[in-house]
Order: sequence, then C-alpha cells, then structure tokens
Amino acid sequence: MRHSTLRQLEVFEAIARLKSFTRAAEELFLTQPTVSMQAKKLTDEIGLPLFEQVGKKIYLTDAGKELYQTCLGIFEHFSRFEMIASDMKGLKSGKLRLAVVTTAKYFTPRLLGMFCQKYPGIDVALKVTNRERVLERLTNNQDDLYILGQVPDAIDAVAEVFLDNPLVVLAASNHPLANEKKITVDRICDEPFIMREPGSGTRMATERFFSEQNKKLKVRMELGSNEAIKQAIVGGLGIAVLSRHALALDAPMGQLAILDVEGFPIERHWYFAYPSGKQLSIVAQTFLGYLRQASDYLEDLSCHHAISGHCPLLKSE
Ligand code: PGA
Repeated sequence: MRHSTLRQLEVFEAIARLKSFTRAAEELFLTQPTVSMQAKKLTDEIGLPLFEQVGKKIYLTDAGKELYQTCLGIFEHFSRFEMIASDMKGLKSGKLRLAVVTTAKYFTPRLLGMFCQKYPGIDVALKVTNRERVLERLTNNQDDLYILGQVPDAIDAVAEVFLDNPLVVLAASNHPLANEKKITVDRICDEPFIMREPGSGTRMATERFFSEQNKKLKVRMELGSNEAIKQAIVGGLGIAVLSRHALALDAPMGQLAILDVEGFPIERHWYFAYPSGKQLSIVAQTFLGYLRQASDYLEDLSCHHAISGHCPLLKSE
C-alpha cells in the first residue's frame, strides 16, 4: 500500500460511509469518474476487492470493512495532530462533531452560539436525530461527543449529567383538565394520547412510567417530532408527554398548558457522553470544560419554576 495516497483513502472513506460513488463525488467536489478511478487505483494497490455492487447498492467486502476502520483511525490521528498544532500556535481551532437527540435541539444551538463566540476558530457539525440513532452513532464512534438521556449499561461509555430534563404532560390550554389540580394517572389514561415514534427517548421514559404503574395509555396517534406533537395538541387531537425543554422559544404562545398530574414531572436528565477509552480531541475537551462551567446559564434553560400549571414561558405577555 506504499503508493496509496491519503487522497485515495479519503475518497474510499467517503464511498464507504455514504455507500455511493455519486454522493462521495458530490461531498468531495470531484467528478464521478475521478472518484471511480481513485477507488480503482486503491483496489489495485491492495490487490483485493473493496466493494461489491449488487443492483444499485454498494456493499463493503471484508477487506473494505477492515480498510474503513483503518481509515477512521488514520483520520482521527490526523485531526488530533492538527488540533495539537493549532493549540501549540495558541489558537483553539478545529472541528467539533456533536450528535444530539431530537429534544436537545431546543438548547444545544444556544449553548453552541456562546461557545462559538468564545472560540471563533472552532467549526461545529451538529447532527440531530432520535435516541436510538444517537446510541448507534455512539456505539460506532462516529462523532466527538453526544448529548442524550441516560446511556444504557450495555454500552461502554463515559457519561456525565449536566442538566435536568423534566418530562411533563401537555394539553391545549382550553382543555378541561388544564385548571385541575392533582390529576390522577387513571384520568390521563382516559384521554386520547399522542406518542413520539419508536426509538425516541421521550417515548421510552413515558412508556416505562405508565407500565410501572400497570396503566395503559390510549394512544391515538404517533408523531415523529415534538413540534408536530405540540401542533396536534393545540389542534385538539389529544394530550402528550414531552420534555419541558420542548416548550422553549417557539411554543405556540399561550395555547399549551402543563397539567398537574400525580407523579409528574418524570425526572430525566441530559448527559454528555463518549465511548470509554476514546481520546477526546482538544476541541471536544474544550467544549466539555465549557459545558461544565456554563451551569448558571444551563439552570435558566431548564425552566425550574414551571413545574405545573401554565408554563410562564408560554404566556404571551
Ligand atoms: P428523544 O430523546 O428526542 O429521542 O425523545 C429525548 C430523551 O432521551 O429524553
């Protein structure tokens, strides 16, 4: 492999990750014939096929899979070196790749805004997806850091709590339950319920809460986004359990109420996490330091005072 260039490995990594020559070409701003030629040269150099094409789909051969892992290691070492070099030059610069669960999108961009102002040389790539996907990415070591609810014991990761994530029951503000106190769980189970999609952490915690009490919700609808659920509640389709963070900023003003239900809020927490044994980049370490220090601001984000009744955040004053 002595004659393979770093460029060829870069091209190979993109094809292997995107499972497409066309998309790899687009991402690297190359033509498709150039991408195919680089891949062919690399294959010839190694002397083993790296890809298999079945119909339109591309699969990695065993040699391709091994090479892909090797590439990831090589690129990680290089980006570490780049960061060490810029650190030596006294600049905090480089790339931070963050993957966060859907509900964390309500506060992560604001945190990143302050971070990027402090460190203008740092580029951030933010991936927002549901809990199941974030756990998959964590297991495959695809990003620098992850923000999510509790990490399952089966995954070997370092995880630290940095913020509360209370889950509350939401209804339209003109719902008959909106002005009641100490609503029972049975009463909630009589209402049509709107549930997040399978794979969502909010859904998992909600299902656990009700099944621990041997109660069954009347799920009327499943929706894959907190925003869609809020609109459905306002539209009178039912009630739902969502993170209080989902009420931040763009909540339909004054049209949602947090119900006072026994046992609520469900106490969940936000963690940052990374695979055990991962050598954090300097940029990732800087971000963790910043997260730990930003506690006052984070307290504000968690909206401690709105445990029940109408959430002050939602009032249109
Ligand atoms: P979700 O995760 O956005 O996938 O529901 C939130 C959580 O884990 O609490």
